[in-house]
Amino acid sequence: MAIDPEFERTRERADDHDGHAVWGPVDEPEQLGIHGAHVAVDFDICIGDGACLEDCPVDVFDWVDTPDHPESEKKADPVREGQCIDCMLCVDVCPVDAVDVDPGRENRI
Ligand code: F3S
Ligand code: F3S
Ligand code: ZN
Repeated sequence: MAIDPEFERTRERADDHDGHAVWGPVDEPEQLGIHGAHVAVDFDICIGDGACLEDCPVDVFDWVDTPDHPESEKKADPVREGQCIDCMLCVDVCPVDAVDVDPGRENRI
């Protein structure tokens, strides 16, 4: 299952985290929702592969620890989504389609 690119419509804004939005449902530690807006990562799909972190030319992502999450114990968090230059590498390299990037989606924090 890939990230839902319509998450702004289909999900409720649940929280903020490190300068970006979190879209629920959130029920820690098993269910963590989607982090980010312009650059969005579905934490419940991410398996901690790391290709997005390694390949992003402007270093948008940092690791965040997610102990006891069923898919992986770390996730790529789009902490610098405002720096994204829309190269789409992260979308292309993620093996589980956990990332969606949309220049029309603004960080609304
Ligand atoms: Fe980086 Fe992905 Fe944007 S690789 S530049 S966050 S489209
Ligand atoms: Fe996660 Fe995909 Fe990045 S699995 S760490 S979002 S490449
Ligand atoms: Zn986050």
